[in-house]
Amino acid sequence: MNQLHHLIADKIRSAGGRITFAEYMAEALYHPMLGYYNRPEMTIGEQGDFFTSPMVHPVFGHCVGRQIYQLWLEMGSPSSFTLLEMGAGTGALARDLLQEWDRLQANEPAANSGPVALRYVIVEQSPVLRGRQRETASETGKGRIEWHATLQEVPGYGSLEGVILSNELFDALPYHRLVMDKGRLLERYVTLEEDGSFAEVTAPLSDERLPLLLDEQIREGLEEGDRLVLSPAAGKVIREMADALNKGYVLTIDYGNLSPDVHWQSARSGGIRCYYKQTLNHDPYTRVGEQDITADVDFSYLQREGGQVGLETVRFSTQSDFLENFGFLDKVTDLQRMAFRDLRADFELQKMLTLYLPQGLGDACKVLMQSKGA
Ligand SMILES: C[S@@+](CC[C@H](N)C(=O)[O-])C[C@H]1O[C@@H](n2cnc3c(N)ncnc32)[C@H](O)[C@@H]1O
Repeated sequence: MNQLHHLIADKIRSAGGRITFAEYMAEALYHPMLGYYNRPEMTIGEQGDFFTSPMVHPVFGHCVGRQIYQLWLEMGSPSSFTLLEMGAGTGALARDLLQEWDRLQANEPAANSGPVALRYVIVEQSPVLRGRQRETASETGKGRIEWHATLQEVPGYGSLEGVILSNELFDALPYHRLVMDKGRLLERYVTLEEDGSFAEVTAPLSDERLPLLLDEQIREGLEEGDRLVLSPAAGKVIREMADALNKGYVLTIDYGNLSPDVHWQSARSGGIRCYYKQTLNHDPYTRVGEQDITADVDFSYLQREGGQVGLETVRFSTQSDFLENFGFLDKVTDLQRMAFRDLRADFELQKMLTLYLPQGLGDACKVLMQSKGA
């Protein structure tokens, strides 16, 4: 039992014996010093516990860069344009995306209005990761990225024009766990055993409004023992993103699916996944703060919440379809030609394909584009 385990145990005691799983997850991932994303050694990729698309291959950031560039063109090539990335991890996406933006600005005839200084804003809650991002993007991002810890702190919040982007942000927010028990939806809480280890207990919902986060089809189709995960925090973030924008797009890339499929998947699997040293497990109570905890995103919920605050769904697709639209397959074809002669090209090709193939991230990751006044 590490220090964070003891701190959470104290919190459980002072809360009268139990806390929601969402409260537990918030501490395990975001405790200011000991939480998974705030520890000095936190990293993503080979040295860390899991990979994300930007860490797999720079072509991901290049394709996202092309998408951002196209949105800028669609908005009439404004001379002032903000790209806000929320939850930027190591900063790899910012680095690769800016590289592509610069290339397009330099080469594309459509940029005839002259180069535009993209305002790149990163909203990152972790001071450790903000430092890592500064290092990673030190070349392409030098002097043109600004950092903030929360969305509301961003100068111009409410009047931004541009794109708000995130990759694997929503799957890392705190989730409540619900279970269908004798015909009623109840909640799973975290409590303590006598020896101080964590255990789960089922009790009435911490908030009667939680089932309203589900669409009706799910609420009516639940069977005894089905388990669900829900994140009101995700609804709050999408609302804040909408509020931050005056005009533009919200581009969300993440693991998950539309409802009801996303909930049927988690009803069977329990919904929560943990990663430690690139290995999947389903025990969020070991190595507290030293392993990642994540859940699939309900994209229908993001669309419903967004719809209430002026975000209109433009497109929802798999990551494979998204990448195909932005020149991914041309790059694959080039590498395939070289791979006959060059082993390094073959290795690179294999990595790139992880982003695209259904057994990799291609189907599991989805891309949702919503627009506001654009
Ligand atoms: C799973 S990581 C993804 C990192 C990166 N986007 C990538 O794809 O490699 C989640 C990121 O979101 C950040 N994060 C989580 N909640 C946040 C919040 N409310 N505001 C800003 N950043 C947040 C974490 O600190 C971390 O950088």
